[in-house]
Amino acid sequence: MLFDRLSERGTAFLGTDYPIICGAMTWISDVTLMKAVAKNGAFPVLAGGNMDPDLFEQEIDRCIDQLKTPFGANLITIAPNYRAQYEILLDKDVGFVVFAGSFPRKSDIQGMKKSGKKVMSFASGESIASQQIRFGADALILEGNEAGGHVGHVSLMVLLQQVLFKFDQVPIFVGGGLATGQMMAHLMLMGAAGCQFGTLFVMTEECTAHEDFKQAFTRARARQAVATPQYDSRLPIVAVRAIRNRGTDDFGNLQLDLLKRLEREELSREKAQYEVEKYWVGALRRAVVDGDVDQGSLMAGQSVGLVGDVRPMKEVIEQLVSDAEEELERVAGRLI
Ligand SMILES: Cc1cc2nc3c(=O)[nH]c(=O)nc-3n(C[C@H](O)[C@H](O)[C@H](O)COP(=O)(O)O)c2cc1C
Repeated sequence: MLFDRLSERGTAFLGTDYPIICGAMTWISDVTLMKAVAKNGAFPVLAGGNMDPDLFEQEIDRCIDQLKTPFGANLITIAPNYRAQYEILLDKDVGFVVFAGSFPRKSDIQGMKKSGKKVMSFASGESIASQQIRFGADALILEGNEAGGHVGHVSLMVLLQQVLFKFDQVPIFVGGGLATGQMMAHLMLMGAAGCQFGTLFVMTEECTAHEDFKQAFTRARARQAVATPQYDSRLPIVAVRAIRNRGTDDFGNLQLDLLKRLEREELSREKAQYEVEKYWVGALRRAVVDGDVDQGSLMAGQSVGLVGDVRPMKEVIEQLVSDAEEELERVAGRLI
C-alpha cells in the first residue's frame, strides 16, 4: 500500500500503526480521549496546560498505567507551572515530550533527551525550525495559522515551502486546518512524516468535552473560527483561534475601550495589559467543562468547517486512513 510506504518514517518515530497525532488540547486531552486515540492506532498527547503540579503527576501516572502504546506529554513553556511540570515529567517513564508555547531552551531539550525521551517542538518558521533541530529536537510539528488554539502568524501554505521543503534531518509532522485523509495523503507526498489533528478529534464520542461545546463545533463554519485581533501595538495580544461568540466580541470592545482610556491617560499601560490578560483566564475551561458557549473560549481551527457530527473515534481514524489510501491510488493512477 502506498500509504504504508509513505507512513514508514512517521510510524517508526512514533511507534504507532498510523502517523496520526491527536494534538494536546488543554481540558480536552485527558486519559479517556488518549485511550481512544491509542486503541485505534494513532498517537495521543496529554495536555499539561497550566495544571497544578500534583494533578499533572496524577494524570501522567494514569496514562502510564492505562496506555499500552506510545504517547507524549505536552508542556507549555510559558505556563506558570511549566518548570514544576518539567521536573515531574523528567523522572517519568514517558516516551515523548511535546513542547509548546514559546520555544524551549536548548538545556530543556537536552535535559529531556538525557532522561530518554524523544523531543518534539513546534516550528513557526525557517529560523525556528533550524534552531530547534540544532538544539536537538527529534521531530518538528509544523502548524499553520489555520489551527485551533494559540497560533503563529503564517499560513500552512507558506510554512510548507519555508520549512517542509527545506529540512529533512528530522521527521516533520504537519497540522493546522486539517480534517481529511485526502489532505493527509497530499501532505505526505510533499514530505510530511504524518499529520496532527485537534478540532477533528474533539468531534468524537470519546472526547469528554461538554455536549454544547461540540454542538458549537457542529454549527460553525470555517470563517467563524477567527484569530484574536490586535488593534494596537501598545496592547499586545497572544493570538488564539476560536469560534466567534459574545466573548470574542466583548474582548474586541474591551481592547478598544482600554485604548481610548490609554489615549486619555486615564490608566497606565501595565493596568491595561493586566485587564487584557485577565479577560480570558479560565475561559477555555468554562467552554469545555461547563458548556458556556457564549462567553467561554471556543478554541477551534478553521478545520471546524470540515467536521460534521460527533462520531466514534474508530470511525474517524479509519476514515482518515482509507481516504488517504484512496487518494494516493487516485494520484498514482493520474501519474501513469
Ligand atoms: C480546544 C483546543 C485546545 C488546544 N490546546 C493546546 C494545548 O494545550 N497545547 C498545544 O500544544 N496545542 C493545543 N491546541 C492545538 C492542537 O494541539 C492542534 O495542534 C491544533 O488543534 C491543530 O489544528 P486543527 O484544530 O485545525 O486540527 C489546542 C487546540 C484546540 C482546538
